[in-house]
Amino acid sequence: MKIDFANLRYQHELYKDEIEAAILKVARNCNFIMGDEVRELEENLCKFTDAKNAITCSSGTDALLLAMMALDIKPGDEIITTPFTFIATAETIALLGAKPVFVDIDEKTYNIDVTKIEGKITPKTKAIIAVSLYGQPCDLEKLNAITKNYQLSLIIDGAQSFGATYKGKSEVHYCDIYTTSFFPAKPLGCYGDGGAVLANNDKFAQKMKMLRIHGQNKRYHHKYIGLGARLDTIQAAILNVKLKHYKEDLALRQEVAKKYSVSLSDECEKKEIITPTLIPHTTSAWAQYSIRVKEEGKREKLQEKLKEAGIPTAIHYPMPLHLQECFAYLGYGKGDFPIAEKVSEEIMSLPMNPYLSDEEISYIVGQL
Ligand SMILES: Cc1ncc(COP(=O)(O)O)c(C=O)c1O
Repeated sequence: MKIDFANLRYQHELYKDEIEAAILKVARNCNFIMGDEVRELEENLCKFTDAKNAITCSSGTDALLLAMMALDIKPGDEIITTPFTFIATAETIALLGAKPVFVDIDEKTYNIDVTKIEGKITPKTKAIIAVSLYGQPCDLEKLNAITKNYQLSLIIDGAQSFGATYKGKSEVHYCDIYTTSFFPAKPLGCYGDGGAVLANNDKFAQKMKMLRIHGQNKRYHHKYIGLGARLDTIQAAILNVKLKHYKEDLALRQEVAKKYSVSLSDECEKKEIITPTLIPHTTSAWAQYSIRVKEEGKREKLQEKLKEAGIPTAIHYPMPLHLQECFAYLGYGKGDFPIAEKVSEEIMSLPMNPYLSDEEISYIVGQL
C-alpha cells in the first residue's frame, strides 16, 4: 500500500469542477489583484469564525508581521512565545527588531506552558504569541487572565488551527489578533501561499488593511510603512470553494484522529508511544496527528521501516527554536527548555488528511 501524507491530489479530484471553474473565472475576468473573490473570502472567513474582521494576506508569515505591526511592536520590545513551533513565529518577532523570549511547553499538549509565563514578563514585554500547535488551541482562559493582568496583547498564531474551537467558539474571540496560513498542506490550504489575520477590534483591522497594501489609506498616499502582502484573487477563489466544504473536512479529520488514538491505545498502554492529548473544551483542526516514540533512537528506525512500507512520516519539529543557529545571539543553550528538547527528539507525525480510509489507518497502525 502507498499512503499519501496530506492527499491534496484526492482533494483536488473531489472539488475539481468547482475549483477549476473558479480559477477559470478569475483568468477570464483578469481581476488578479484584490478581485471580488478576495472580499467574498473575507466575508466568508468572518461568517465561519463569527469574527468581526478578516483580512486576507500573502502568507501565514506575513499575517504574523501584520499583526505585530498593527500592535506597534518596535525594536527593544519583548514578545513571549514557544520554542516548539515553526520558525516563522519567532523569526517575524526578530525581523521587527523585537526580542523573542521563549517559555517551555506543556508536556501533554506541546503548547506554551501557561504556568511558566509570568516569570518571564518584564517591563519590556508587549505581547504573547501563543501557537495552536498541530491545530490545538492553548489554555486560552489562563492566557487571557495573564494578558489582562499585565496589560499585554495576545496574538494567536493559528497557522495550523483554522477551524479549531475553545469552549465552542473560534480562537479569534480570545485574542487581539488571530493569524492563520493557507499554505497548501494546512487544514484549509490554497494552491500556493496565502494567509489571513482576523480580529474583533476594528482599529487593528483598519490598520492591518492599510499595512497589507504598503500602509496606504488612499491610492499613493501612505500613512504607515507597510508591506506588499495581498492574497492573489486566484487563491481567494480556490479558498471560497474549499471553505464551503471545510466543516465536513474538519469533521473527517477529527474522525481520523479518533480512529488513530483508539487503534494505538494498546501501544500507548505499554508506554512505547504517546498519542495526542486534547485539553477539555477544545476541538483541534488536526493539522497533524503527532505521536511520541519513547525509546531513544527508535523513532528514526521506525520512520525508515514505515517508509519502506509506503508510509510517509514527518518530524514537526526536530530542533526547538532556542537551539537554532539564527537565534544564537539570544544566548540560550541546551537544557534551557527541557520539555521542548525532549519532545523534539521523540515526536513523529503520521499521515493526516480527511480521506484516510479505515483500511489505510489499520495498515499504518499495523506497520507501526
Ligand atoms: C505555526 C506556524 N506559524 C507560521 C507559519 C507560516 O505560515 P506560511 O508558511 O503560510 O508563511 C506556519 C507554516 O508552516 C506555521 O506552522
